[in-house]
Amino acid sequence: MPWGKRANLVVHGDDPFNAEPPRAALADEPVTSLDAFYVRNHGPVPEIDPSSWRLRVDGLVERELELSLDELRSRFAQHEEAATLQCAGNRRVGFLSFRDIPGEAPWGPGATGTAVWAGVRLTDLLAAAGIEENADHVAFLGADVSEEPEPPQPFGASLPRHKATAEEVLVAWSMNGEPLPAVHGAPVRLVVPGYIGARSVKWLERITAQAEPSDNFFQAETYRLLPAEADPDAIAPGEGVALGAVAVNAEVLSPDDRATVTPGPLRVSGYAFAGDDRRIVRVDVSTDEGRSWRQADLLGQHGPWTWRLWETEVEVGAETTDIVARAWDSATAAQPESAAPLWNPKGYVNNAWARVAVTVDRPAAGAARTTSPGRRDTA
Ligand code: MTE
Repeated sequence: MPWGKRANLVVHGDDPFNAEPPRAALADEPVTSLDAFYVRNHGPVPEIDPSSWRLRVDGLVERELELSLDELRSRFAQHEEAATLQCAGNRRVGFLSFRDIPGEAPWGPGATGTAVWAGVRLTDLLAAAGIEENADHVAFLGADVSEEPEPPQPFGASLPRHKATAEEVLVAWSMNGEPLPAVHGAPVRLVVPGYIGARSVKWLERITAQAEPSDNFFQAETYRLLPAEADPDAIAPGEGVALGAVAVNAEVLSPDDRATVTPGPLRVSGYAFAGDDRRIVRVDVSTDEGRSWRQADLLGQHGPWTWRLWETEVEVGAETTDIVARAWDSATAAQPESAAPLWNPKGYVNNAWARVAVTVDRPAAGAARTTSPGRRDTA
């Protein structure tokens, strides 16, 4: 597997490289290992010489900055932040049973991960440059050139000023205590906790304070929520809704989808996440399609910007076919039951109930556990 990733990652594309870990690699791990962390690339990983790399800060600023890696490290206070990244296409596969999404990879629930990032605060860089009053947005440009737009363009994005100047947003060079790996944006990337992954620009080279959102293809024409009837190949820049804060979402990580389980008590665990200043306040699990629910235990959190792992024990019966889960956030938003009404042409923000199918292994005849009357006999 390239880029030092584990052999069992699900690869969605070799060039550009796109891959996600299976459920088991994320289960019960508050911080995701570097070799299991998903990769979402829109172009080739650029080759950057860190000694000649410079970060430019320009646009509506009083003084333009051009910073080497050493200057970035020595001139600004360093900060560490645990944060979950989640791609807007995470769980897209759940849409495909309703309608196809041509040209987009069928990401499962692994297009998300949590890391401890270290670097400097973006707001400190903007303050050093003297961001002007009329700069309502801050735009970012990476060094990679994607062939998705016509003509090809570097990957870019922007943030509204209130988020760009929030103290959780980092310009980071380290991930889980290690130097930022090339595939995750070395030498330096943006990390925007609570926002879709696409705003966390990798291989960062330029930060521009400006009056309008970025007109980069990946901000103005993709990573937007379009109405179901829109033609994604014929949309005008700025159409649809720009995706920012991540909607409340959850997944079951254990048992695996299509696992064989035995009747009786079963531990169920997973992740739940809500973007921006929302927090996960409750996760419910059901083995009967939501007719009854059991509240899961929320496990300790690494910090305010990370997912919440959860676990509970349910009773599996012979009739159990699926385990579903739904999370609630601090604004009392809950996940919707079905992905059908959420379907959109680019397949973003599937936050419908988490669902894994299970096959219940019947105990051998004469085993201690007895079947209840009326139980479906599948043998
Ligand atoms: N930055 C650049 N320069 N190029 C990219 O293709 N992909 C974005 C974002 N930043 C991307 C980028 C998307 S869509 C996501 S979800 C995250 O990076 C993925 O980060 P990761 O590959 O480190 O997990």
